[in-house]
Amino acid sequence: MRLIIDTDAGVDDAQAIMLALRHPGVTVEAITTVTGNVHLDKVVPNVLTVLDVMGATIPVYRGAAQPLMPNGLHAEEVHGGDGLGDWPDRPAPSARQPEREHAVDALLRLTRQYPGELTIVALAPLTNLALAARLDPHFPLRVKEFIFMGGTIAGQGNATNPTAEFNILGDPEAAYITLESFPLATMLSWETTLHHPLNWERYDALAAIPTPEGRFFKGISGRIVSLIRGMSGRLGYLLPDPLAMALALDRLLILEEERRHVTVALVGEHTRAQTVVDYRFRAQSTPNVDIVTRVDVNGFYQLLRHALGG
Ligand code: RIB
Ligand code: CA
Repeated sequence: MRLIIDTDAGVDDAQAIMLALRHPGVTVEAITTVTGNVHLDKVVPNVLTVLDVMGATIPVYRGAAQPLMPNGLHAEEVHGGDGLGDWPDRPAPSARQPEREHAVDALLRLTRQYPGELTIVALAPLTNLALAARLDPHFPLRVKEFIFMGGTIAGQGNATNPTAEFNILGDPEAAYITLESFPLATMLSWETTLHHPLNWERYDALAAIPTPEGRFFKGISGRIVSLIRGMSGRLGYLLPDPLAMALALDRLLILEEERRHVTVALVGEHTRAQTVVDYRFRAQSTPNVDIVTRVDVNGFYQLLRHALGG
């Protein structure tokens, strides 16, 4: 399997990248970056640091520093000011630099170089994907598989608009364009993330793995875990991006999915960036998204353990 990862790292993005780098039979051809959880200028060094921890020298490409329609949306209250949990013992900045080529140009070039061979896993606002699709309408057709973490399937969001999920609200126009351009996408929504937490016993076991990867996983998770562990009813650690990545790495982890037409609401005081699912096939639109509704959490946990050297 040959992957391109699009990311706004981001604590859970970092964990997803770690999963991919340790998965047997997977080659990560490129990591493209975009503003989201934090600004692009922080995302790039975060990705380079994750690669240093994992001993990987994968090309990293700078992408869009702003969404198609500027909104200044970030999530530093969750991911910390640096985007990796503001971990005091964070490794020193990487000596490596990103490539000179823009991420969108890299997406177009690599899919021309390897038509039908690349799986794209998008873990962030979809600005880079939308720009690529507008620059070259044939780009989506050269992609073998497209999986993204984002959206809601029952109106239960996690963003300032209550029915929106962060990655879609981060660039609603880009999400609209991307879903309209790709013939098929696999979607891991916020609700499905909520329904598949990593219980605290399992989190504690991962955080105790005495390897550099385990220590990094624990270090960058500290802020988020302290935020949510005390919340009443929070049954465990939510890992949206690693869950989406796991589904890309091993499709057998998908226990239930359904194919529907999905688009994005662009206007609406309360509903801008809601992903609108046509459950009853009413629109005259061809179903374009496999909505994942049930995941093998045990299998997911085993992938995480393996990635951390446990
Ligand atoms: O809503 C969760 C998503 O938004 C994750 O990708 C997280 O990293 C943030 O980008
Ligand atoms: Ca992300």
